[in-house]
Amino acid sequence: MDQQAWEKIDELIDKNQNVTIKDLFASDKDRAKEFSLEAAGWFLDYSKNRVDKAMMKALLKLAEKANLKEEIENMFTGKKINVTEGRAVLHTALRNCDKNAKIMVDRKDVMKDVRKVLNQMGDFTDTVRSGKWKGFSGKRIKYVVNIGIGGSDLGPVMANIALTPYTKRSMKFFFVSNVDSTHLAETLREVKADQTLFIIASKTFTTQETMSNAEAAKEWFIAQAVKAGLSKKDAAAAVAKHFVAVSTAAKEVADFGIDTKNMFVFWDWVGGRYSLPSAIGLSLMLSIGRRNYAKLLRGYYKMDRHFRTARFERNMPVIMALLGILYHNGYGAESYCILPYDQYLSRFPAYCQQMDMESNGKCVDKNGEKVTYSTGPIEWGEPGTNGQHSFYQLIHQGTHLIPCDFIGCSRTHNPIGDLHDKLMANLFAQTEALAFGKTAEECRAEGVPEKLVPFKTFEGNKPTNTLLCDQLTPETLGALVALYEHKVFVQGVIWNVYSYDQWGVQLGKVLAKGVLSDLTAKKPSGKHDASTNQLIARYRKAVGR
Ligand code: F6P
Repeated sequence: MDQQAWEKIDELIDKNQNVTIKDLFASDKDRAKEFSLEAAGWFLDYSKNRVDKAMMKALLKLAEKANLKEEIENMFTGKKINVTEGRAVLHTALRNCDKNAKIMVDRKDVMKDVRKVLNQMGDFTDTVRSGKWKGFSGKRIKYVVNIGIGGSDLGPVMANIALTPYTKRSMKFFFVSNVDSTHLAETLREVKADQTLFIIASKTFTTQETMSNAEAAKEWFIAQAVKAGLSKKDAAAAVAKHFVAVSTAAKEVADFGIDTKNMFVFWDWVGGRYSLPSAIGLSLMLSIGRRNYAKLLRGYYKMDRHFRTARFERNMPVIMALLGILYHNGYGAESYCILPYDQYLSRFPAYCQQMDMESNGKCVDKNGEKVTYSTGPIEWGEPGTNGQHSFYQLIHQGTHLIPCDFIGCSRTHNPIGDLHDKLMANLFAQTEALAFGKTAEECRAEGVPEKLVPFKTFEGNKPTNTLLCDQLTPETLGALVALYEHKVFVQGVIWNVYSYDQWGVQLGKVLAKGVLSDLTAKKPSGKHDASTNQLIARYRKAVGR
């Protein structure tokens, strides 16, 4: 982070130590309007933050000093900004709706391939949804089981829930990610083999969890087909009608036994956690149809264009990123909350968690040197109003500063009485309570007994953003995801870390292989630390080895 630019921010934090959000509103009657903006179907009100114009200017300087403009162009134009893996970062190409767009990587226009795969997905989707694609018994596909983990799961799950009103209700969608056999077993109880399509979604097609679940699903499927009267040979051949793959790895897909005709490719320039708009979104396209999927991409594209072209002072992802940095680095806020007031967005916080924490959870900068500042906040959240009856107490009156994003939609897909008004009233009221709190005097004026005043006082001055859209649609969902993706990107640029690799997940994967062989071997190696050896021994004893 640029030292000089940061010093100015620090100086302003010190200077404004005693200025509260309440004071900021009192001194500027236009504050709400001035600290709000619209983009791609979303309205952001960031007026309930600890910022004035001088602070915003100082924060923007930080972005400028990090060469943000140039970095954005580098990403959009396919420069290999994922340096440690030697890759371009082009999830934005996946939703580029400009028919004439050309984006070159290694002297190849990637847009041609992007359009080709989208068409392949669309045609396949039409065939399955119309019932033309038949299972081994001649019946249409009714159940779709996506097997994948991390980015090959969280995006499809989140979006399938978010876009439930647009889904084909006569089909049922399941997502198996965990290598815990319970996940697969419970799913298989819900489906019939002859009407099930398994999507094996894995960028590398080597991920232990996914490949183990995929193998187990294939075995189960073949056994079910034999039970239904097929010969072993025919049952094995029927795999082609019931298993498709989404991957970058053709050889591994073929080795697994899936016909590469039924493979939907994507490319190494798509990071797992950014892969929802790639073929990884196949399960989503199957559930909402190709037209709605195209609208989702259009929503992404609108936010992409906004991000690429808007001045930073009116740029939604940039502003949200800078506010996040202010609290994380300036006020030491370790965590950050995403609170969607829309049941359909129930998995959005979990989705953002991977996107953000796998991207910016880094302790070395781009020069390989230990950073001297904190990066990547801990991200969490739950839908409102449930969270209000759980952890909001700590946000209101605890000792931690937790900036929150409140996300709501003006119109519900499911109007029932005044429930939606109540939901939205709660959202607005929470941001009001967090910002303005309740003073001891106000408590006393309400007749609160003196000894209870400290307990009933709310400090306030807790920062929030409010994001509102008209309605949650494929378009607004796409724009929302792109907004958070770009926010993460901007923060990574300012923290000077590589946001698109994830070496931190490797060690555990490697060690798990060694531990697995010790769990199953005739005699364990005993080569681990004393604690791990003890745990291995205890487990072996329990399972009779
Ligand atoms: O957990 C690490 C990770 O590499 C994620 O980045 C990725 O989304 C996930 O594993 C799944 O990887 P794949 O799609 O290759 O199976």
